[in-house]
Amino acid sequence: MPFDCTAESAHFACSLGLVLRQYARELDWADGGVVELGTGDARAVSEVVAGLPGLAVRSWDVDAASVDEARAVVAEHGVAGQYTVEHGDFFAGSAGSPARTVITNPPYLPAPDGDLQLPGLWGGPDGNALLLRVLEGPWEHVVAAVASYADPVGTLAAAADAGFRVASFLAMPLELGHYSREPKVLARIRELVDAGRGWADEDSYMVAVALLTRSPRIAGDRSAELAGALQLPVPALAAA
Ligand SMILES: C[S@@+](CC[C@H](N)C(=O)[O-])C[C@H]1O[C@@H](n2cnc3c(N)ncnc32)[C@H](O)[C@@H]1O
Repeated sequence: MPFDCTAESAHFACSLGLVLRQYARELDWADGGVVELGTGDARAVSEVVAGLPGLAVRSWDVDAASVDEARAVVAEHGVAGQYTVEHGDFFAGSAGSPARTVITNPPYLPAPDGDLQLPGLWGGPDGNALLLRVLEGPWEHVVAAVASYADPVGTLAAAADAGFRVASFLAMPLELGHYSREPKVLARIRELVDAGRGWADEDSYMVAVALLTRSPRIAGDRSAELAGALQLPVPALAAA
């Protein structure tokens, strides 16, 4: 079954569209295209692709039902020539790609195991396992959703270690929905928050879609501002 959270997908796509437009020259996505980890139903990103005729996105999803739905949605939007969807693991499929930019609203549910109502949303015990793997890759730019409850402290530290700076981001609060409220997910979220490794309150958490870059063509580092937007205590970040 495809991932279904309209607010989260719309925030991801809206932020992605803004970043791709604002940094078109620096990301140079018209040359080599971009790759995507986790297509879902492709609805939100299809609209971004439709609005950027020079953009080519090659996307992977491990969930067969998502891929079937995504291909239909891509065709409905008339962007099949620009947005290709493949069934399989992103890390295997994208190896050797000429793209320099990855886009992803990654699986980020923290839980002790992946036996969840939607197993494809499992992000490892701390929620950030797939994003950390992306940051270990060869990419020059990563446009990713970073969730305040999925060990963003560890994510920002790993990004800095890998030479990434935060060029820009758009943050918004999201309700703890049915995926986050699955009991073993919620329990793990509370543990991470209690350990000072994330933030969520009774009803909500923050998600920021950030442009992480290693390119000298993009100046500045907004890591501290991003940590603030994710409600992280600054000492927790400094100690990471
Ligand atoms: C949070 S959903 C995002 C879907 C869509 N991009 C959106 O924002 O609506 C994450 C997606 O990643 C997929 N996924 C999980 N692990 C993956 C992997 N290793 N390679 C490719 N896709 C993966 C899941 O099946 C799921 O559809």
